[in-house]
Amino acid sequence: MKSPFVVCGATGNIGSRIAEILLAAGEPVRIIGRERVRLGRLASKGAESWPGDIGDTAFLEKAFSGARGAFILIPPRYDASDFREYQDQLGASLVAALSMAKVPRIVALSSIGAHLDEGTGPILGLHDLETRLGTLKDAEVVCLRPAYFMENHLWSIPLIRNQGINGSPIRGDVPFPMIATEDIAVATARLFVEGVFHGHHEVRYLLGPRDLTMSEATRIIGEAIGKPGLKYVRFSEDDARKTLAGAGMSGSVLEAMLEMQRGFNAGIVRPTRERSMENTTPTTLESFAKSVYAHAYRVAA
Ligand SMILES: NC(=O)c1ccc[n+]([C@@H]2O[C@H](COP(=O)([O-])OP(=O)(O)OC[C@H]3O[C@@H](n4cnc5c(N)ncnc54)[C@H](OP(=O)(O)O)[C@@H]3O)[C@@H](O)[C@H]2O)c1
Repeated sequence: MKSPFVVCGATGNIGSRIAEILLAAGEPVRIIGRERVRLGRLASKGAESWPGDIGDTAFLEKAFSGARGAFILIPPRYDASDFREYQDQLGASLVAALSMAKVPRIVALSSIGAHLDEGTGPILGLHDLETRLGTLKDAEVVCLRPAYFMENHLWSIPLIRNQGINGSPIRGDVPFPMIATEDIAVATARLFVEGVFHGHHEVRYLLGPRDLTMSEATRIIGEAIGKPGLKYVRFSEDDARKTLAGAGMSGSVLEAMLEMQRGFNAGIVRPTRERSMENTTPTTLESFAKSVYAHAYRVAA
């Protein structure tokens, strides 16, 4: 009997699809999330449920024991009172458990910008996670550095519905790569199934099909939801603070997000390698907007 792959964040965007793809390929999978009931859908497809908290190292060590590989992430937590500390605790717990359980192959969800040690907000926690993973001497580690998620655009649905515009503090004219989370899941599952790891510690970028500005992205989304000519407006940070605090985001998370957006505006949150066949992924924003975004926009009515 084959030993399992462990998937953290298995009820989330990326983890749920990794688990589904691995199960469909006939691989044994252990799934981690905080609540058994939420893991039920994948359990009914044959996954082994491991409900528990990533911050609980003893739990994680058990969940990781005997695994052939593990997908790890630091999940978002929008109400964290000290976001850096939250990321630090989860990163430390993950790496300690991986080390104790001697997991041989690890795929870690990082981000573009993770090469930097300042000025990137939440990506700093991923920089620290990559550094910690570098201490695992006996494991083969791939740090995936995906682009800005296309799913982030879903946050703008209430704004478009209520005010008829799209906007954020990110400049409308700075191009950067955007990726559908489906493409991250497909790449991760392929890595595990094909076993194409190249040694101790490797960074791989995943960059979507092309770079886009927020203005271009808004035009594409507008066309997909029957609002051609939808405008993108750059908001002040103060306006964004009020909106995000109103949506329940803690001051710590909110300031980190604004710092990251400044990083995009300054062009520092970017890949350190050129776009290539290897790091270009297939799902276009046009296709994402027509399927995922348009559906979410309709059901939010
Ligand atoms: N947004 C971007 O543009 C971007 C770009 C690059 C990288 N990233 C990285 O991608 C991550 C988000 O990935 P995603 O979209 O797949 O996440 P997601 O959809 O928000 O899912 C988070 C998952 O983590 C689980 N979870 C949350 N807290 C947990 C805890 N303490 N213990 C155990 N499980 C926990 C959640 O399950 P339950 O709620 O069921 O427990 C859920 O399955 C970000 O945190 C960031 O590190 C984001």
